[in-house]
Order: sequence, then structure tokens, then C-alpha cells
Amino acid sequence: MRTYLVTGGAGFIGSNFIHYMFNKYDNDIRIINVDVLTYAGNLENLKDVEKRDNYTFIKADICDSEAIGKIFEENDIDRVVHFAAESHVDRSIKNPEVFVQTNVIGTAVMLNCAKKSWELPDGSFKEGKKFLHVSTDEVYGSLPEDKTSFFYETTPYSPHSPYSASKAGSDMLVKAYMDTYKFPANITNCSNNYGPYQFPEKLIPLIINNALSGKKLPVYGDGKNVRDWLYVEDHAKAIDMVMEKGKLFETYNVGGHNEKQNIEIVNIIIETLQEMLPDSDPRKAHVNTDLITYVEDRKGHDRRYAICPDKIKEAVGWEPSTCFKDGIKKTIAWFFENEEWMKNVINKDYQKYYESMYHMN
Ligand code: NAD
Ligand code: DAU
Repeated sequence: MRTYLVTGGAGFIGSNFIHYMFNKYDNDIRIINVDVLTYAGNLENLKDVEKRDNYTFIKADICDSEAIGKIFEENDIDRVVHFAAESHVDRSIKNPEVFVQTNVIGTAVMLNCAKKSWELPDGSFKEGKKFLHVSTDEVYGSLPEDKTSFFYETTPYSPHSPYSASKAGSDMLVKAYMDTYKFPANITNCSNNYGPYQFPEKLIPLIINNALSGKKLPVYGDGKNVRDWLYVEDHAKAIDMVMEKGKLFETYNVGGHNEKQNIEIVNIIIETLQEMLPDSDPRKAHVNTDLITYVEDRKGHDRRYAICPDKIKEAVGWEPSTCFKDGIKKTIAWFFENEEWMKNVINKDYQKYYESMYHMN
């Protein structure tokens, strides 16, 4: 039975990945989830898997080399899927240090512990081991608005925010381990994800939650920045396929050609909520475009992201399965069915963050 060590499995993409893997492989795999449970880590995301015999949660910090080393010593880990990170650009602008600590130092610790555990006396690595580093398209910087340019795996790195700079640093460390030691790894650089369990500091869950609560919908700058949105389950599928079929030492971009301006996203959410809310629901009356509020732009705001996914399609046969129209309906339906989850997340710390970030309630 193959053993996966998933870091950051209590976060948004990590928890969706764990669900995806158990749905697909059931009892044929074992997953060890290592997460320190920051504000973004939530064990409620994993309630339905926590009693499985082939699932273990370990609360540990990826920067703690003793704790991580012990996990490798006590378990025969076959695959590392490294999600754990500080992930929100706005927070990185206010408090960059923790991004460097977790994203750069934490990745160095993970690489070092895996290398120590997997390396043979002759400097080669045990058969079948792989480290998959989950990264972002933001490392490539910003594209012009002309719609003809894309991020390729060969696009030079040009990160602008402390978040993307720290992710670029972590990617470079993985590349250095591959080049120097022939360390068995892959890097995936994915575009913006959305779906169940996403923390409401990110655009899509924030807009859904605010609209349902009749609160203002903050749009940065002119609202015309473009992001390339991917349903989170499609990202999980891509990671699994790269792990299975990806050639060692390669980087794969992950994205589904779904570019949209932020203001389009906000309008689609309003329309979809209007469509999905029954007439008897009192919230239907206040969900409308009057809530849209243009606010001060994000510092250093990248204008456009767009992935060219040709390489991953050709190499491993990955293509997204969920179009945006269906994905956003599934996401909104999930938030309708999980109001308790949102209530628990919108706690005092979140309110404090929201007020300091947006200077409004
Ligand atoms: P998230 O913020 O929802 O989750 C991050 C998880 O990491 C949390 O559970 C948190 O508790 C954990 N964590 C943070 N610091 C830790 C530490 N020091 N030790 C152990 N655990 C720690 O993030 P996400 O949106 O799920 O992103 C996951 C990964 O995917 C990140 O590496 C991110 O850069 C990358 N990524 C995200 C997106 C996106 O759109 N969200 C797109 C591309 C790539
Ligand atoms: O591209 C991949 C990246 O996508 C990931 O690496 C990051 O971890 C993830 O957070 C995400 O980064 P973004 O900064 O693109 O996502 P966010 O949801 O924060 O913002 C999306 C766009 O919406 C961005 O242009 C900023 C804008 N925005 C965001 C918020 C929170 C607003 O206009 N208003 C808002 O309130």
C-alpha cells in the first residue's frame, strides 16, 4: 500500500485533494496529513475521513525539522504532496516574514527530511519515491491584457508580491535539489482555484458570503484584473496524474483556459445566487449589483494571469472536467449546504482581519 505524506491537508486545496484521493483509491492508499493548523487550517474540512484506518492527522510545523524528521523515520513515505504554505497575497503585503518562514524555510525542511529518508548510500534514491511541490502561476508575474500571451513552463520567473516571491523561492529550492542531487520531484504551477472549503478571504467565497449577508462586495481598483479560474477538484486530479505519469524533474502548468475579469466573476456570482435562491428566501431581495463597491487597489496588483496547459495535456492526458458555469453552481450549492461551516469560520479573528483589511463591516 502506497503511503502519501500530505502537508497542509487541512487547508482548502489540501482537504479537497484528500477527499479526491480517498474517493478514487479508497483503502488502497494511506494518507498522513501534516498541518500546524494556522487560521487557514480547519479539521472540519476532513470530518468525513477522520475515522478511516488509512488516514492519520499529525499536528506539526513544516519548519520543525525534528518533528518532520520523526514522521519520515516512523513511516515509509512513498509520496510527499507539499501544499502547506501561507497562501493569501493581501496578508503577505501586510506581514511578509511569515511567508518567507513557512514557504521558503518550510519547503527546505521538507526537502531535506525527504532526501535524508529516501537517499541510498551511493547517493541515488529509493525506487518509486516522489516529492510533488504544489506551486502557483503567480511566480511568472503579470501578463499584458492582449489575450494572446500565456504562462508557459519556460516563462522566466518574475514574482511581484511577497507571497509569490516566497513561492518562487520554494520552487527554486526544489529545482536546486533536482539539479544537484537528482532528487525525485515534480513542480506544478496552478492558476486560481475555487470550490468547497475555500477560506472567505479569497475573492469567490468572500463575495458569496458577503452577498448572502447583504454586505458590500469589495472590488479592487477598476475590477478588470484577470484571473484564470479552475475548479479545485480538477487541480486535485492534475496532481494525482502528475504523480502517476509525470516525468521526474519536470514542471507542469495547470489551468483550464478560463480567464475572467474580477468584475465578471462578481456579476456571475450575483446572477447565479439570484437563480439558485428560492423566491421564499429573504436573502434574494438584497443580492444585487448595488452591493458592488470599488475599493482601493491591491499594492503591486498583477494585471493578468493565464496558463497554457498544453504540456500537462500532452504529457499526462490531463484536462479539466468542470466548466466555470457548473463549477460556480456546485460551489454555491456547497456553501448553501454548509452554512454552519461558514458560521464557524467567520469568527472574531476573521472579523478583525476583515475590518483591518477593508475598513468596513
Ligand atoms: P490554504 O491557506 O487554504 O491552506 C494552507 C494550509 O497549510 C493550512 O491548512 C495551514 O494550516 C497549513 N500550514 C500553513 N503553515 C504551515 C506550517 N508552517 N506547517 C504546517 N502546515 C502549515 O492554502 P490553499 O489555497 O489550499 O493552497 C495550498 C497550496 O496550493 C499552497 O502552497 C498555495 O501556494 C498553492 N496554490 C494555491 C492556489 C489557490 O488558488 N488557492 C493556486 C495555486 C497554488
Ligand atoms: O493564481 C494562483 C493564486 O491565486 C494562488 O497562488 C494564491 O494562493 C491564491 O490566493 C490566488 O491569489 P489571488 O491574489 O489571485 O486570489 P484572490 O482571491 O485573493 O484575488 C483574486 C482577484 O480578486 C485578485 O485580482 C484580487 C481581487 N480581489 C480579491 C479580494 C479578496 C478583489 O477585487 N476584492 C477582494 O476582496
